[in-house]
Amino acid sequence: MLKELEDLKAKAVSELGSIDNLEELEKWRVRYLGRKGSLTAILRGLGELPVDERRTTGAIANQTKVLLEADLKLKEEALKSKDLAATLEQTRLDITLPGYPVSLGRLHPVTQTLREICNVFVSMGFQIVEGPEVEWDYYNFEALNIPQDHPARDMWATFWIDTEGGERSRLLRTHTSPMQIRLMEKTRPPIRALMPGRVYRYEATDATHESMFYQVEGLAIDRDITMSDLKGTLFEFARRLFGESRKVRFRCDYFPFVEPGVEMAIDCFICQGAGCPLCKNTGWIEILGAGMVHPEVLRRVNYDPEVYTGFAFGMGVERIPLLRYGIDDIRLFYGNDLRFLKQF
Ligand code: DAH
Repeated sequence: MLKELEDLKAKAVSELGSIDNLEELEKWRVRYLGRKGSLTAILRGLGELPVDERRTTGAIANQTKVLLEADLKLKEEALKSKDLAATLEQTRLDITLPGYPVSLGRLHPVTQTLREICNVFVSMGFQIVEGPEVEWDYYNFEALNIPQDHPARDMWATFWIDTEGGERSRLLRTHTSPMQIRLMEKTRPPIRALMPGRVYRYEATDATHESMFYQVEGLAIDRDITMSDLKGTLFEFARRLFGESRKVRFRCDYFPFVEPGVEMAIDCFICQGAGCPLCKNTGWIEILGAGMVHPEVLRRVNYDPEVYTGFAFGMGVERIPLLRYGIDDIRLFYGNDLRFLKQF
């Protein structure tokens, strides 16, 4: 029996030495240590031995079992780590491959222009105020000295929300001028405010017209504000936005909420006034409408026109990047075509 054990041990150890995968190892385990394995059989047979022999043989058989189990464990660990190394080698990640480039977002050209305009006026002490796009007839027209049935209403093709008419009718604001009234109703002079926002016009869309676009409204009210304050402020604005050497031109224009009303143009920044396609050979580019706030408008918000005066102006925003970048279709701004937008 002892000899048998000795041989079994030698054989098992030598077989184990040449095993190089987990499958073979499992077979080996079953062969020797499994329920029907040869060592297990010997251990079971111990009971039939005489007591003396049983003790010594039993001890050796148990040692053999412990040894084989330990060897098995060692071998198993070695094989597993070999497998792992092989898997790692096969599925290795090449971290030197370049990744996908991250594309940076950017501000819309109209947003960029809006911010530029706001910055200029903020640096002159204007505050920024925003208000509703769905507006009452009262603010959009009535309080701006454009009564019901006044022909001046034709200046703004209106998207009506309510159709019954009257100052309680709602509409999509056709300009940012109603914000003048809203602000004056809520505050007392002095006022210096800039009011940017979206406006809407019921017009067929084409290369130069959109039914939604941006305007920036300006308002300054105080004692002793004169037309020269208006000119000085807007002149400074023109130079800050379009270049130090810009000239400005004011000509009479009509808007019901100002008196006198003017239209401001700058000398063409492409041809410096010589005449080119951008300025349609006039040398001038119209930028905004402005004027001294009409006494009737001041009276509407309970400001005494004998005490307070002020100026207002309003400009379209899209026109500026259109001119600057030589873009020939305003619809490109809101077409969401990234190939266009990524250029700014
Ligand atoms: N609200 C006018 C428009 O939409 C622009 C305008 C003209 C605004 C003169 C003003 C102004 O504040 O004084 O066409």
